[in-house]
Amino acid sequence: MPRVFSGIQPTGDLHIGNWLGAVRNWVTLQSEVEAIYSVVDLHSVIGGYDPGSLASRTQDMAIGLLAAGIDPDRAILFVQSHVPEHAELQWLLTTLTPLGELERMTQFKDKSQRLESIPAGLLCYPILQAADILLYHADQVPVGEDQAQHLELTREIARRWNAAFAPKQPFFPEPQALMTPARRILGLDGQAKMSKSLGNTIGLLEDEEAIGKKLRPAVTDPARVTKRDPGDPTVCNIFTLHQHFSPPETVAHVAQQCRSAGWGCLDCKKVLAEQIAGTLAPIRDRAGELKADPGRVEDALRDGAAKARTIARETMVEVRERMGLWQPRRR
Ligand code: TYM
Repeated sequence: MPRVFSGIQPTGDLHIGNWLGAVRNWVTLQSEVEAIYSVVDLHSVIGGYDPGSLASRTQDMAIGLLAAGIDPDRAILFVQSHVPEHAELQWLLTTLTPLGELERMTQFKDKSQRLESIPAGLLCYPILQAADILLYHADQVPVGEDQAQHLELTREIARRWNAAFAPKQPFFPEPQALMTPARRILGLDGQAKMSKSLGNTIGLLEDEEAIGKKLRPAVTDPARVTKRDPGDPTVCNIFTLHQHFSPPETVAHVAQQCRSAGWGCLDCKKVLAEQIAGTLAPIRDRAGELKADPGRVEDALRDGAAKARTIARETMVEVRERMGLWQPRRR
């Protein structure tokens, strides 16, 4: 059975970009393959983060994932720092990853541009991501489009390690990215990728009123200046979101009302807020129940870490051996 691994940073609450681009697919995959998912807290301690809120953000992200339908009986769900082998494998992989390849990563280039002093961790971030994936011998990695380049690098790293330490029979598989049609959801500005750091998100757990408020100023067809101008749904991000959240008959009605200037953009946004809130209502309800029962979440993550660690330990015994590190014989 193929094995799938994916991770998400503990940014607090999930947003609909995460959900449409990745997490919804994680839920589907857990019934089809062996699935391992992680809240990757080590990835989020780079540079200026708030240590006082990291633990609660990690818990909230786990609650979001469980509420979205990750089932600990079907998938392994754990917190990355609870399995120390991730950091160990990262170091070993660091030793054979060329600096130039890391400097070419788009996310590194974007983020480092904004910093006066660049932490080495920012550069090595994709190696930790490669370690996450390779530790579990994952074949497939369900992610959004922004992670495609990191996946490419992971394959490079796997190839290079195999060539050096497992030349006859590859030890690490070269993992493939799995993407959905919602691989790049735009934010409320209609320009940039929906991203917590850009403040252009709709949270998965927000209610209709909060969603409506956020949608009101959201960018639509720029050529539609007044309510009387007909619009072009194909260039409108609000219409794209309708396609992800509304039933086909509503999508068709929205397109027709937009093209004929029957509805103004605010009418269209009101319906979208209802549809998003309605679709996500069961997730909101489950999150409420889980928040009231933190012991259940902790138990699930503890069990998940134990299962993940069993796999990670086995991989590391083999990696250490092949890399020539002396290990006392197992009794
Ligand atoms: P992160 O935490 O930024 O995002 C989690 C997942 O959500 C996807 N995503 C989106 N998809 C579509 N549209 C969007 N606007 C959007 N925003 C986010 C991301 O592509 C991702 O799949 N480096 C990773 C976390 C990570 C990881 C891993 C992923 C660490 N180790 C190993 C896979 C495998 C990240 O920061 O994702």
